[in-house]
Amino acid sequence: MDEVQRLTGRVAVVTGSSRGLGLAFARLLGQHGAAVVLSARTADDVERAVDGLRLRSEGIAAHGLAADVGILTDVERLRDEAQQHGTLDIWVNNAGAAGVYGPTATAPVADFERVVRTNVMGTYHGSRVALGVFLGQGHGDLVNIYGRGDHGPVPLQNAYASSKAWIRNFTRGLQSEVRDSGVRVHGMNPGLVRTDMLGRVTAQEGFESRVKALPFVVGLWGQSPEAAARPLLRLVTSKRPEFRDLTRRTMLTRAIANLAGGQLHRKRRLPLDVTVVSPE
Ligand SMILES: NC(=O)c1ccc[n+]([C@@H]2O[C@H](COP(=O)([O-])OP(=O)(O)OC[C@H]3O[C@@H](n4cnc5c(N)ncnc54)[C@H](OP(=O)(O)O)[C@@H]3O)[C@@H](O)[C@H]2O)c1
Repeated sequence: MDEVQRLTGRVAVVTGSSRGLGLAFARLLGQHGAAVVLSARTADDVERAVDGLRLRSEGIAAHGLAADVGILTDVERLRDEAQQHGTLDIWVNNAGAAGVYGPTATAPVADFERVVRTNVMGTYHGSRVALGVFLGQGHGDLVNIYGRGDHGPVPLQNAYASSKAWIRNFTRGLQSEVRDSGVRVHGMNPGLVRTDMLGRVTAQEGFESRVKALPFVVGLWGQSPEAAARPLLRLVTSKRPEFRDLTRRTMLTRAIANLAGGQLHRKRRLPLDVTVVSPE
C-alpha cells in the first residue's frame, strides 16, 4: 500500500490538537490519508488549526470541535462529530496540562485539580468513549500519551508526574481488558517536545529560578512536535498493542543530534516565559 495513503478511510480524533504535539499528530494522520477531528477548549484556536491543515494544501480532511476532555458530555460530542465523517477507529488522548512547578503541600488546589481533571479524567473519558465505539465494531486504535513521571516520582512536578504514572497503569490495564477483541490500546512517551508546555511555565514563588535551565534541557533533549509525533504512525498501523518508552539510548541519540544541529545555541533555544504564583 502507498506509504502516504495507508490510513485512507479511517477517521481519527486527537484531543488537545489546536497546537503543539496534538496538532502535529493530527497533521501526520491527515497526511497519511485519515480524516482528522481536532479539538481543544479554545474554539478560535481549534478553528485556526483546522484551517491551517486544510490550507496547507496537503489535502487533509480536517474537522474541529471545541471540547474540554474533563467533561464527559464534551467528549461524547466529539465522538458524535467524528462519526459524521465515517468509521471512527483512531483516538489519541493527547490533551494534557503541566501544573505549577513547586512543592505539593503549597500548590494551588485549583491547579492540582485542573491537572488531574485534564490528564486523568480526560484520558479516562476519552478511553471510555472511544472503547465504546471500538469494542462495538471489533476494531480501533486507542493511544494514550505518557510523559515525565510515568516510571517514577518527580518532586516539585508531582501532580503532572503522578498523573502520567496513572495513565501508564491505566493504559496497561485497558490493554489486558480488550485482549482478543480486535481493539488495540497503545501508550507512548514522546520525550521532550518544543511546545508551549515547556516554553510557558508557572512556578510557585521561590521556585522560579529552578526552571531557568529548561531552555538548555529542551535544547539538549527536545524534539520538534513533527519529529516527536512520527512514532504514532507505527502505533496505529501495528497489528498489536505497542508501548513506546523513552530509553537511555534514545536520549543519547537525541542529545548527539541536537548538539550537532546547534540546538543549544542561545538563539535557537525555546524562549521561556515564567509566571510566578503565590503558595497556598
Ligand atoms: N511537551 C513535552 O515536552 C511533552 C513531553 C512528554 C509528554 N507530553 C504530553 O504531550 C501532550 C501534549 O503536550 P504539548 O506539549 O503539545 O502541550 P501544549 O502545547 O500545552 O498543548 C496542549 C493542548 O491541549 C489542549 N488542552 C489543554 N487542556 C485541555 C482540556 N481540558 N481539554 C481539551 N484540550 C485541552 C490545549 O488547548 P486549550 O488550552 O485551548 O484547551 C492545547 O491544544 C500532553 O499530554 C503532554 O503531557 C508533552
